[in-house]
Amino acid sequence: MNPEIALDDVAYIRNLIRERSAMVLEVEKTYFMQSRLEPFSKQEGFGSLAGLVSHLRQTSYGPLHERVIEAMTINETSFFRDPAPFQALKDRLLPEVIQANWNLRRLHIWCGASSSGQEPYSILLTILHHFPELRSWHIRLIATDISLAMVKRAKEGRYGPYEVKRGLSPLMLNTYFSRQGMEWQIRENVRNIIEFREMNLAGSWVGLPTMDLVFMRNVMMYFDMETRKAILHRIRGILAPHGYLVLGVTETTLAVDDHFERVGVNGTSVYRVNKK
Ligand SMILES: C[S@@+](CC[C@H](N)C(=O)[O-])C[C@H]1O[C@@H](n2cnc3c(N)ncnc32)[C@H](O)[C@@H]1O
Repeated sequence: MNPEIALDDVAYIRNLIRERSAMVLEVEKTYFMQSRLEPFSKQEGFGSLAGLVSHLRQTSYGPLHERVIEAMTINETSFFRDPAPFQALKDRLLPEVIQANWNLRRLHIWCGASSSGQEPYSILLTILHHFPELRSWHIRLIATDISLAMVKRAKEGRYGPYEVKRGLSPLMLNTYFSRQGMEWQIRENVRNIIEFREMNLAGSWVGLPTMDLVFMRNVMMYFDMETRKAILHRIRGILAPHGYLVLGVTETTLAVDDHFERVGVNGTSVYRVNKK
């Protein structure tokens, strides 16, 4: 690793990421930035990170800037990550929204930082496996992420042996996936239920319908307080009155947005807009 990255270049990258994706890259993460962007610079034909930054500075915002932001995203995820929220989904959230939407027979769910797809597929498998009566309902499950590469991977729904071992039961694996050599792919009729889209949470949310459930897990933690407030405010604008917001286990609305109330379910927390 080249230790001589100019402070000015670090500041440029941090600003680019902050302005375009709202992610805050702490100064202490300079090593992480180098570990991601030095190989990226070489791969893109620049001799060094300094060469890449110099080019980015001289050109107007475009696909290369976008790819730099993408290269800096942390895409850690797994099937049924932190199982408690999925237990809550099965035991409380879905039964409640099914009841609320019984006459409409439709369900709208948004997964707002879907990474390589394990989270929206976990939501979908919970529905298909435990609520067969919803097969005749109109289900819109929208999964979005800022990273186009992740959206493409998620759409493909193809996972390696290590990935399927993280969180999937053999029953789920054998029922909803087909084996492709060393990999497993979600069956096409299941994959096609999810609408995958590239979307920046700090940008426009046009096209999202009123949501019964919003999953916004393990992404708020990369944003500053101002952005978290703005995002929670916008979620309130699209959440149905009976709807729930599910955050990552280390994230909360408390002290960020007083209009949400915490609801404890099976040892985890979910959130709904308070009716006061
Ligand atoms: C750590 S992963 C979390 C994935 C999944 N929600 C989970 O909990 O397992 C964070 C994801 O947020 C995405 N992300 C970061 N900033 C974003 C933004 N401004 N808009 C949309 N997605 C963003 C990243 O690309 C990454 O895939």
